[in-house]
Amino acid sequence: MADSRPRQQQRAPDGWYGALTSQKLRRGRAVSFRALGRDLVAWRGMDGVAHVIDRYCPHQGAALDKGRVQGDRIVCPFHAWEFGSGGHCVGRPDFYKTAISARVGAYATVERDGVVWFHSDPTTAQGDEALFPAVASYLGTDDGAFGRTHVVRKCFRGSQMGVLENTMDLCHLVPVHGQELRGGSGRVTRNDTGVFAFEMNFRLGGGRFEVPMSIEMSIHDGTLLIGNFSIAGRECSRWIASAMPDGAGGLTVLQPYVTAKLEGWWRLANPVLALGMGRGISRGLEVDAKIWSEQSRAEGHIVPPEERVAEEFRRYYAALLEGRDERDEVRRGSRAEPSPAGWVASQHV
Ligand code: FES
Ligand SMILES: [Fe+2]
Repeated sequence: MADSRPRQQQRAPDGWYGALTSQKLRRGRAVSFRALGRDLVAWRGMDGVAHVIDRYCPHQGAALDKGRVQGDRIVCPFHAWEFGSGGHCVGRPDFYKTAISARVGAYATVERDGVVWFHSDPTTAQGDEALFPAVASYLGTDDGAFGRTHVVRKCFRGSQMGVLENTMDLCHLVPVHGQELRGGSGRVTRNDTGVFAFEMNFRLGGGRFEVPMSIEMSIHDGTLLIGNFSIAGRECSRWIASAMPDGAGGLTVLQPYVTAKLEGWWRLANPVLALGMGRGISRGLEVDAKIWSEQSRAEGHIVPPEERVAEEFRRYYAALLEGRDERDEVRRGSRAEPSPAGWVASQHV
């Protein structure tokens, strides 16, 4: 009999996603991409500001990225209707004499840390950077202690939920990513503002050369992963990761990071370590994704106490998909306040 369990779902909640690297979007250029089942176009006006709107012209459906950028507008390649950042048609050639109102979906867009971010809900207000607090207050805080931003980008097949919940599934780290984790411990917690936090302490290398490392990560609003990486108690790099699903099984994972300015040999080693970490995380997720592609989790699957917070996350994520804010339920007291769960890895796998 065929297994009727649903495969890992492909939907994702509305929120901030990293669409592409700033480098890829040159001034006066447009780039098309797919996100959450939609065809979108990002363009950079001659003033240097990036925008994201729906890809197809509301007139006769030409692909706007095949047009040109003029000033801060994008001009359709077919009948030269012009669109501004709000998605409104703001100009047409003179031979159109009648007034019309035409508009495509437009998405709040913020550019930070070498990434063009957009909010997938077109009803979100434009131009309000306060809507992007987690990132803005994280990598963006330059007190001189951190160097410039780099971005690791990788595309593979997988689900956005897979990326987020996998990162806090501490129990899979040893069996799947064993060589990277020697000894150590992990812990996952959540708070009532919907932030899931997890930390891992482990040692890299073996024998005399083991180096103690720790990673602290947290998930914000069901779309952004924010992380902090330390070696031997010293903060080495800060990270943000976004996994943008295309809606057809593909994912674009963007990880901007900054490295701390350290002294001595750390100065040279730290950027290399951070790049290795970023690539390692991307490769690790690709390995995980092969498991997810054949995963079929039943309703009422077994949840050991060590995985209770990950289960909390799945419930939180399901609520986000339905447009419900499960955080309100926690605040109102209609759901019990979750408590932290801990985990200890086996030694020297
Ligand atoms: S299709 Fe875009 S202006 Fe006609
Ligand atoms: Fe993993």
